[in-house]
Amino acid sequence: MPDRYEEALRGIAEKYRRTAEKAAEAGIIPYRSAEGKWITSPYDGNSWWTGGFWPGLMWQLWHLTGDGFFREEARRVEKLLTDEFRSFRKLNHDTGFMYLLSCGADAKLTGDEQAETDLLHAASLLMGRFNPAGFIRAWNEPERTGYAIIDCMMNLALLYRASRDTGDPRFRGVAAVHADTTLKEFLREDGSVSHIIEFDPETGKRIREHAGQGYALGTQWSRGQAWGLYGFALAYRHLKDGKYLQAALKIAGNFTAHIREDGLTDCDFLQPAGEERLDNIAGAIAACGLQELAALTGEEAWKRHAEKLVNGLLDRCADWGGDRCGILTHCTASYHDDGAGRHTNIVYGDYFLAEALMKLCGKDPELWS
Ligand code: GLY
Repeated sequence: MPDRYEEALRGIAEKYRRTAEKAAEAGIIPYRSAEGKWITSPYDGNSWWTGGFWPGLMWQLWHLTGDGFFREEARRVEKLLTDEFRSFRKLNHDTGFMYLLSCGADAKLTGDEQAETDLLHAASLLMGRFNPAGFIRAWNEPERTGYAIIDCMMNLALLYRASRDTGDPRFRGVAAVHADTTLKEFLREDGSVSHIIEFDPETGKRIREHAGQGYALGTQWSRGQAWGLYGFALAYRHLKDGKYLQAALKIAGNFTAHIREDGLTDCDFLQPAGEERLDNIAGAIAACGLQELAALTGEEAWKRHAEKLVNGLLDRCADWGGDRCGILTHCTASYHDDGAGRHTNIVYGDYFLAEALMKLCGKDPELWS
């Protein structure tokens, strides 16, 4: 099996070595690919939350191959992302995704001092979104002042890193308060997690759950489940409190019970039977989170589930030579809104597939740490 994973990693490096130049020539941050082209994000230009995955993938491939092309391509986009500090109003809690995998990866892998400065700038922006009523605010619309979302569990990794790099516990302290609120308000009895909870921004009291990118209110959007799984595993790694590990294990139990026979992942675990709507990004993220759990607990069973997910992706949904610039097919951004992509290649699917393979091959540079 490891040979298969090594071969898949070589395949990713080869395809991206051929196709990433098209993004550099166009001067864009790719969001998805179709018909031999890279396509930018559908909303918010270079401030869209997914911009960090392209440089993150380039850093993974640089770490794998040592090919300077990937380092330079990562830095090209890192510059576009740090230019977005000036726009500020469009940035939200996803500064974690955007800057940990760009500046954070650069500083970690090369020791670049400006990248480290930019990482701390981003961490300060994220910490500035903290509401002392108990949560990190997700988005910027005035009517969403009290919204927090499960995805933010991943963004907390930027705060753990900032505390480690500066010796200042404030960043980590804010992350712990947000993680505690998420544990209390998002984790359901059956091990699934809500996507969006609205709080009273003055008191922190829970107001209501909102339907998000899944099928309906109260269902189980699979990518949200994957964010929760990996996010709580990382919380345990960095904050060392067993309650986060218990949460990650509970979410993992529910996620693995819903892995399909073919190893692919439905967009929502409670979507109507017979409705073929997949989100392979969720499977790729979960394959990373499950391996993190295996490493934290020493329980290899979690790794077997991760392999099942990765094998499903490689067997059925990897486009090595076809008409797309990217690789993973059948990625779906949102159940009911096809504007950001349905059953297509989306770059962060490729990012997490590469990270899952790097972990399986013992080569992961641990960009979330
Ligand atoms: N963070 C938004 C998403 O997963 O689509």
